[in-house]
Amino acid sequence: MLTNDTVFKKGFLWGGATAANQIEGAYDVDGKGLSTADMIRFVPKDERTGYSMDVKADYIEDVLNNKVNDRFPKRTAIDFYHRYKEDIALFAEMGFKTLRISINWARIFPNGDDVNPNEAGLQFYDNLFDEMLKYGIEPLVTLSHYETPLELTRKYNGWYSRKLIGFYTRYAETVFTRYKNKVKYWLTFNEINVITHSPYTGGGILVENVPNQSAEQIAYQGAHHQFVASAFATKLAHEIIPDVKVGCMLARMTTYPVTNHPDDILLAQHKNDLNLFFTDVQVRGEYPKVMERYFKENNIQVVKEVGDDEIIKQYPVDFISFSYYMSLSVTTQSEEENVLGNMIAGSVKNPHLQTSDWGWQIDPKGLRYTLQDFHNRYGKPLFIVENGLGAHDKVEEDGSIHDPYRVDYLRQHIEQMKEAVKDGVDLMGYTAWGPIDLISVSTNEMSKRYGFIYVNQDDEGNGTLERSKKDSFYWYKQVIQTNGEDLSSTTKVKVSQ
Ligand code: BG6
Repeated sequence: MLTNDTVFKKGFLWGGATAANQIEGAYDVDGKGLSTADMIRFVPKDERTGYSMDVKADYIEDVLNNKVNDRFPKRTAIDFYHRYKEDIALFAEMGFKTLRISINWARIFPNGDDVNPNEAGLQFYDNLFDEMLKYGIEPLVTLSHYETPLELTRKYNGWYSRKLIGFYTRYAETVFTRYKNKVKYWLTFNEINVITHSPYTGGGILVENVPNQSAEQIAYQGAHHQFVASAFATKLAHEIIPDVKVGCMLARMTTYPVTNHPDDILLAQHKNDLNLFFTDVQVRGEYPKVMERYFKENNIQVVKEVGDDEIIKQYPVDFISFSYYMSLSVTTQSEEENVLGNMIAGSVKNPHLQTSDWGWQIDPKGLRYTLQDFHNRYGKPLFIVENGLGAHDKVEEDGSIHDPYRVDYLRQHIEQMKEAVKDGVDLMGYTAWGPIDLISVSTNEMSKRYGFIYVNQDDEGNGTLERSKKDSFYWYKQVIQTNGEDLSSTTKVKVSQ
């Protein structure tokens, strides 16, 4: 192979990224407690008014009292809990160097505030890591990916409460100690900035339970608690695990000005500042001045305790990881707002970009820009831990699945990664989102598919759960084999007519 001569460094971590609540299922098995993700019901597309991520306090009580008759797709997901051996074997066949998973906190501490961990939950992840390591797949583990033990939400209102710092630290210490010889790469919070867009998803917070405070105020308070918790986890990881690397994780929403009007330039800069606030804190170890002013002018008071600023300063992350799916565009020059976008942010349409079936604006060059921008701002190693195309796939009569659109999307993004690396960006790895079809976060659908591996299940939860390889499976295998040098279609890819 071309390993001495490749753009990506030797040991580049190619792989895929998943989250426990979107793949595992088995929501009440082996002592697992309920988590916030188990409460998100399926809403058919024509009845949906927005994204199906937020849940209200009353609804949770109704669910627990069996007063509703809804379906909760993440409770069963794709049953990875029982099928992980088959799935890991398929990832190994593609040549994965790493697999990003998350630990479901409620498997380890069913109520979140328990004193002792649940051994069956710990054993599951032991088995999972052993299975990965058997194939030389390095685990990359997120401690908290869009789920909080439900009891922490009901009793304390999730991350709005400072108490969560202690519970999370206990959880982190438990899993660091248990897996110290198996897991070297850790991420503290998935897309930590999402707490300001969906406090329930990002922080297990029910905003209606905090009277007289704006949702923004509540969310930034929760974020502060997560910053402190993340710093404590980073400290502990370095004390417990030899050669550990701890990363933050941001949903990077690179935002462009629509025109060169100075007001547009400033608006785009402001949006980027809001987004990069989270990495500013976790990488530089302090709140940026620009946000202090923003808080003041928007009547946001983040309550800090003595020592918080110090711990954040002392324990910044070792690397920056982020998700990148699209870019956004903003303007002060028209009324046109929120035309497109996702759960995270509104954006006006960029006429130079195509959009996915779900309206996300596809912008590979934006990834190059984003990488360079991160590099210039922080000079730290970068890791793309989510990128991919959610699309409808069709199974042919012979069972094959031709997904050239997915190959195109990924190829174009990897090409731009190469350009950034040539420009000096220090890139550790790339994990494509959803290497196997899984349950969507924003819509709870199965039909929004990202995988190289197809899973036989529809939006209503019907199907055999059987796994099969898409054309992109063979393509990604070749990409990994050549360390990203050969991005062309493989002979095994059957291009649809
Ligand atoms: C990221 C999340 O926001 O985007 C993932 O970290 C999520 O959990 C992914 O699945 C894609 O979003 P969606 O809504 O298409 O599932």
